[in-house]
Amino acid sequence: MKRILLFCLAALSLAGCKSAVAPAVAPEPAEAKAARMEWFSQAKLGIFIHWGIYSRGDWSESWSFHNGTVSMEDYFAQEKDFTAASYDPAAWVELIRESGARYTVITSKHHDGFALWDTKAGDVSAVKSSAAGRDVLTPFVEEVRRQGGLRLGLYFSLIDWPREDYPNVFRAGPARYDIHREPERWQHFLSFNSAQLKELQDAYNPDLIWFDGDWEFKAEEWDAPGIVSALRAHNPDIIVNSRIAGYGDYDTPELGVPVTRPESRWWETCMTIGDSWGFRKRDTDFKSFDTILRMLVDCMSMGGNLLLDIGPRADGTIPEEEVAVLKELGRWISKHSEAVYPTRAGIPAGHVQAYTTLNRAGDILYAYLPYAPNESLEIKGLKSVIKRVRVVGTDQELSWKRYNDIDWSATPGVYYINVPQQVLDPNMTVLAIELDGPATLYEGAGQVISFNE
Ligand code: GLC
Repeated sequence: MKRILLFCLAALSLAGCKSAVAPAVAPEPAEAKAARMEWFSQAKLGIFIHWGIYSRGDWSESWSFHNGTVSMEDYFAQEKDFTAASYDPAAWVELIRESGARYTVITSKHHDGFALWDTKAGDVSAVKSSAAGRDVLTPFVEEVRRQGGLRLGLYFSLIDWPREDYPNVFRAGPARYDIHREPERWQHFLSFNSAQLKELQDAYNPDLIWFDGDWEFKAEEWDAPGIVSALRAHNPDIIVNSRIAGYGDYDTPELGVPVTRPESRWWETCMTIGDSWGFRKRDTDFKSFDTILRMLVDCMSMGGNLLLDIGPRADGTIPEEEVAVLKELGRWISKHSEAVYPTRAGIPAGHVQAYTTLNRAGDILYAYLPYAPNESLEIKGLKSVIKRVRVVGTDQELSWKRYNDIDWSATPGVYYINVPQQVLDPNMTVLAIELDGPATLYEGAGQVISFNE
């Protein structure tokens, strides 16, 4: 009994999930997982791409027919406008690399089942059912591999609402069938999904699979452990996001940067630049570059990544506002790269009015200033001794003072780093605060004086 319990606990922790049942994924020691996740933890920025027949821009991706905003017929009539006529995969990949992203995740298939590649397992694809009449995924992957510097992620929807062997179709309205009453029909669908995943792995050997839609069924109904085991058997280093019913490697909070650190050691916020994932003509609510930059740095300061979405049009052109944000990210990141990729989560917010990260060794504290400080930046509760302060991306050094560093008090003195206007970056200034050793903090409520000089 005890042994069974121990096995279950080990399996649950390996799956990073509390609700998993009947795990069949091979056990993996914590260090092995850390090694597998290494590139992801240093990537910081990924670019998400939502592209499909919905990219004509009238209705939302898949949800529009599911929710009844448009009929299934009208939704699929968009196939004739998915031309990819101006699609330039080399330019897409150049832009993504220029943004400073270290990975990209493209929708190989959304909940509408429209596959961007030449799937042999089904009939709905850019090749067989669109004006483009060709595989649009392969040229993108080829460019990712040819240009280098990017890990490849493929978004894959577990849900495929239009298919007759998939139980659910419309949000309002009955399911097509009950998987427990018609297990063969459900099995038929699961085999189709597995066949598509195998095609994707055989053709592209992705570094990451980004599942979506797991909420419609339970882990054992999807056979989540079986799906993940099959992926790992093909590529032991593959990373899988959380949306596979408890069998993923990292968390994916959506459209909102968390306030506190997610439970999982690895995580990523996925975020749109406008309001929608796919291109929408009426969506002009683009976030500014400064807003996006804060989101990126906020994620980094809590040890996470930002997966920033772009929605190319059906002809393959990328909205100018999104291009501009990616280019500005690239400019800022290349100036501040020492304070981006090799960092980890910083110190708790109460110590300083700035986002923070630490270098790997923990002896450089990076402070990211989204505001221009009046005179100085205050840091309290820092027991470490500051050796030097640099403005990242420049050759400027800054001076500082420490007040009330009293030797009998547990409360360390408070630092004030002078930040003159002329050193400020137009978007976000980063200070590298070099310490005498790994940062040590005082986190108490202060101390009452018991004697004085
Ligand atoms: C959601 C939606 C989907 C979108 C995804 C991206 O789960 O189903 O439309 O692709 O989030 O995070």
